[in-house]
Amino acid sequence: MGKEIGIGLLGYGTVGAAVAQMVQDHGFRIATETGTLPLIRVAGVRDTSRHRDPMPPVLTSNLLEVVEAPEVDVVIEVMGGMNPAGALIRKALQLGKPVITANKMLMAEQWADLMEFGGELHFEAAVAGAIPIVETLSTLVATQPITRIEAILNGTTNYILTQMRHAGKTYDEALAEAQALGYAEAEPSSDVEGWDAAYKLVILASMIEGDARLVGEVDRDGITLVSQENIQKASAAGRTIKLVAQYERGDLTVGPVALESDHPLASVDGVENALVIEGPALGRLMLRGAGAGGLATATSVLSDLIRVIRRRSEQ
Ligand SMILES: NC(=O)c1ccc[n+]([C@@H]2O[C@H](COP(=O)([O-])OP(=O)(O)OC[C@H]3O[C@@H](n4cnc5c(N)ncnc54)[C@H](OP(=O)(O)O)[C@@H]3O)[C@@H](O)[C@H]2O)c1
Repeated sequence: MGKEIGIGLLGYGTVGAAVAQMVQDHGFRIATETGTLPLIRVAGVRDTSRHRDPMPPVLTSNLLEVVEAPEVDVVIEVMGGMNPAGALIRKALQLGKPVITANKMLMAEQWADLMEFGGELHFEAAVAGAIPIVETLSTLVATQPITRIEAILNGTTNYILTQMRHAGKTYDEALAEAQALGYAEAEPSSDVEGWDAAYKLVILASMIEGDARLVGEVDRDGITLVSQENIQKASAAGRTIKLVAQYERGDLTVGPVALESDHPLASVDGVENALVIEGPALGRLMLRGAGAGGLATATSVLSDLIRVIRRRSEQ
C-alpha cells in the first residue's frame, strides 16, 4: 500500500471546502505524482451544525483538536484573521507539523516572528490566488536583486474599476454588484481601502529583502474616491485607472494609477491579478491569472501540499 498524508483543515469556508473538493477529485493525481495519497481527516469551523459540501469525515469547533490530532500530519489554515489562527499555526509548528496558510493579513503583520519561529510554513495561497508568485519569487531572489514589482493584487477592486470603465457604473453601483456576486465582502474596507493589496505587497517585499517590511510602511490609498469622471478623463487620455501595488527599490505604494494603454497591467480586467517583476538579468517577467476564488486559491494550497509531501519523502 502507498503512503498517506492526513490533513487537518482550520476553516471550511470558501477556500477550505474548495481544498477538500480538490483533494476528493484530484487526490489520486497527487498520489500518482508523489507516491502519497492526501486525505482530509478533520475540519475545524465555528458552526458544526451546518451542512458542508463535501462533508469532511470529522467536523469540530475545537480547533486545537484539529492541530493535535495524531492522524493529522499537515495543518491547512484557511480560517483567516489574526486570532486564534496565529496561535494555532504556532502550536502546529511546535508539534513539528508542516503548516500551509492562505492568511495574508497574518503573514504580513507577523512576518518576522513567523519566520523566526521555526518549522515548515508555506503560504503560496496568501498572494494572488492561483498565480504561483511565492514559489517563483523565492527562486528569483536567489538569482538576482529584484528591483521592481508592479502588480494588481486585489481582484475585488479590479472588478469594480473594470465595471466603472467598461459598463459606465458609478463606484457605488460597481461595489454593490461585486458584493452581489460574492467578489466583495459586506464590509469591503479591506479591499477598497487597499489593505488587502498592502498585505500582499508586504509579503513580497519581505521575501525580496529577506527581512520583514511593515504594513505601516506602505504608502496606501484605496479606490473609494475614484469617480466615474476620473475614469472617463483617464479613458479620454488613453489611460486606464488600476489599483497598483508597487515595490520600487524598497519603496512600497498601493494606490490608483492611470496606466498608459500599452502598460502590461492596463488590460488585466475583472477579478484577475497580475504581476510584472523586474530584475537586471531577467528583464520584465509577467504573471497573470485568477487572483481569488475557492478553487483558484485551493490550487495554490495544493501546490504547497505537494511541496510538503516531497520534502517529507526526502527526509
Ligand atoms: N476567498 C478567497 O478567494 C481567498 C483568496 C485568497 C486567500 N484567502 C484567504 O483564505 C482564508 C479563508 O478565506 P475564506 O474566503 O475561505 O473565508 P470564509 O469563507 O469566511 O471561511 C472561514 C472559515 O473559517 C471558520 N472560522 C473562522 N473563524 C473561526 C473561529 N474563530 N473558530 C472556528 N472557525 C472559524 C469558518 O467557520 P464557519 O464555516 O462555521 O463560519 C469558516 O469555515 C483567509 O485568510 C483569506 O484571506 C481567501
